[in-house]
Amino acid sequence: MTKTYQFPKNFWWGSAASATQTEGGENGVKGKNIWDQWYEEEPNRFFDGVGPEETSDFYHRFKEDIANMKKIHHNSFRMSISWARLIPGGKGEVNQDAVTFYSQVIDELISQGIEPFVNLYHFDMPLEMQEIGGWENREVIDAYTIYAAKAFELFGDRVKTWFTFNEPIVPVEGGYLYDFHYPNIVDAKKAVQVGYHTMIAHAKAVEIYHKNYDGKIGIVLNLTPSYPRSQNPADLKASHICDLFFNRSFLDPAVKGEYPQDLIDLLAEYDHLPETNSADKELLKNNLVDLLGVNYYQPRRVKARDSQPNPDSPFMPDWFFDAYEMPGRKMNVYRGWEIYEKGIYDIMINLRDNYGNIESFISENGMGVQNEERFLVDGRIEDDYRIEFISEHLKWLHQSIQEGCNVKGYHLWTFMDNWSWMNAYKNRYGFYSVNLETQERTAKKSAEWFSQVSKDNGFD
Ligand code: BG6
Repeated sequence: MTKTYQFPKNFWWGSAASATQTEGGENGVKGKNIWDQWYEEEPNRFFDGVGPEETSDFYHRFKEDIANMKKIHHNSFRMSISWARLIPGGKGEVNQDAVTFYSQVIDELISQGIEPFVNLYHFDMPLEMQEIGGWENREVIDAYTIYAAKAFELFGDRVKTWFTFNEPIVPVEGGYLYDFHYPNIVDAKKAVQVGYHTMIAHAKAVEIYHKNYDGKIGIVLNLTPSYPRSQNPADLKASHICDLFFNRSFLDPAVKGEYPQDLIDLLAEYDHLPETNSADKELLKNNLVDLLGVNYYQPRRVKARDSQPNPDSPFMPDWFFDAYEMPGRKMNVYRGWEIYEKGIYDIMINLRDNYGNIESFISENGMGVQNEERFLVDGRIEDDYRIEFISEHLKWLHQSIQEGCNVKGYHLWTFMDNWSWMNAYKNRYGFYSVNLETQERTAKKSAEWFSQVSKDNGFD
């Protein structure tokens, strides 16, 4: 029977996760990454002082986890490879233990009928690469390119869907503007350089992949619509600049092969353009993505600033807009993020109309909730709020498909509760809960609901 919200044939139903958040930093042989290091230096900055050492122990329990994915009818799953695990130190010898581990995970997924989508970088710079400047340094681009080529060579026979980066704007914001990622620098000039070099690294990986392999390669971006408070030109300008900084800084070069002229002009006006090489422009032009992953959690609402920025203060994107708290907005209070389901539709319409209707999918969407044990009934978490969250977003996604958007799937963040960076295990996102004492996994009510939706390829 056709469902009210019936999705196209072969729609990707699944979830996403990342290496540092699930594997356990002290499991197996592995080099250190910036999260291991930051936790060692400042454990107080992580919720309840919980670090990345063990996380959800995917390293040892991946077979059980993949069996659970199959149980709820996943047909695809996005994981990431830890660069510091595959090549400890970021360059040099490949770690054979890591090759075995990732091979086993990939093989297990395939044997259970779940297509592996593999991402190469999810916020996790190898420590030694950070010590030479991270993305500020072009040597790190070269090392990343070698790492990417190695990963394609090792797993490209089985993995046909690759991503170069997950949310590359986030390490720029966290590490170089707003102090929520290591190396906790606040310097917009460096932030621009880091963002630019990340994009060059991305294009180089795409180039290698397209030359040698026949699958698809894309990038995962957190596209956050910047809604203006009003149609007043000052508010519109604020939202336009915000969009340039936080969405189009990666979306345009990835999909169109060039930066928006308005962004270049703005950075030039304030003497914040990055250093570039003469070959970069061509590289970006010639290496467009095949596929776009869209992570959507919250919109951004902005207004014109109430006051002029202090001209003696260092340049920041926030010189051009203020955050706007829309009265009556719906909030996920645990994460402090607004819930606005229609945002998912607006993003897709924008991709349809302004980005050639590139093939895309929702690569993350989800709801982190604190103290979920409150909702335990007979041993199961009755997360009706998550079912509502997912279904309301899916309705808008469905609408966008009805209107011709090229959307191929929906992945929840995340499969099982995992370690959320500075928030550690504060907010839980999974279809499966994880008992941190015993590592026992238990399906939540949303897992059962999603299983049926995936099986029916739709819902009423
Ligand atoms: C995305 C990231 O930004 O959001 C994930 O790709 C992250 O790594 C997820 O865990 C949820 O955000 P947070 O900060 O609550 O973990």
